[in-house]
Amino acid sequence: MPLRAIAYISEASAGLSAAGLDALVEDAARFNAVAGVTGVLLFDGERFLQYFEGPEDGIAAVHERILHARSHQAIVELNRGSVSERSFPYWGMRWLAVEAGLIQQLAIGDWTGFSRRLDDGPGAGSALEQLRTLVTRLFGVSPQAQAVG
Ligand SMILES: Cc1cc2nc3c(=O)[nH]c(=O)nc-3n(C[C@H](O)[C@H](O)[C@H](O)COP(=O)(O)O)c2cc1C
Repeated sequence: MPLRAIAYISEASAGLSAAGLDALVEDAARFNAVAGVTGVLLFDGERFLQYFEGPEDGIAAVHERILHARSHQAIVELNRGSVSERSFPYWGMRWLAVEAGLIQQLAIGDWTGFSRRLDDGPGAGSALEQLRTLVTRLFGVSPQAQAVG
């Protein structure tokens, strides 16, 4: 089954606490596990950048939930398309805190890279590759290399 992915940025609604975000992501990860969706959510205290991947029907169901969530607004899609492999195969959904500025920096990267079908993976220098590198640095291990809780 072909794998699809979507990346977007958004602004957190006022009053979303770390505990609230933990609960939201727990709920998201539960839903994603059933939908076969994996990915990562970056949060800098104000903005989100989320990347999620999976089968087309799972991606559509998750996308619908994301578009209707009141915990964020001003959603701007960065890209959607086919991917040849999962970048976050073991993460139903996981949020990571990042420094302010990093999300804007990633958002202006080349997100077209992940829809290239002939590549083995995201092209060098693509925003998806930058995201993978960033997550590996933050987490200390490649999200492709190790299963995590
Ligand atoms: C930034 C963000 C990311 C989300 N990611 C997912 C997701 O990956 N999968 C999912 O099923 N729902 C996701 N959701 C939806 C939440 O799990 C939850 O259903 C939603 O936030 C409903 O609560 P709310 O309206 O109070 O925000 C996300 C919501 C937000 C705000």
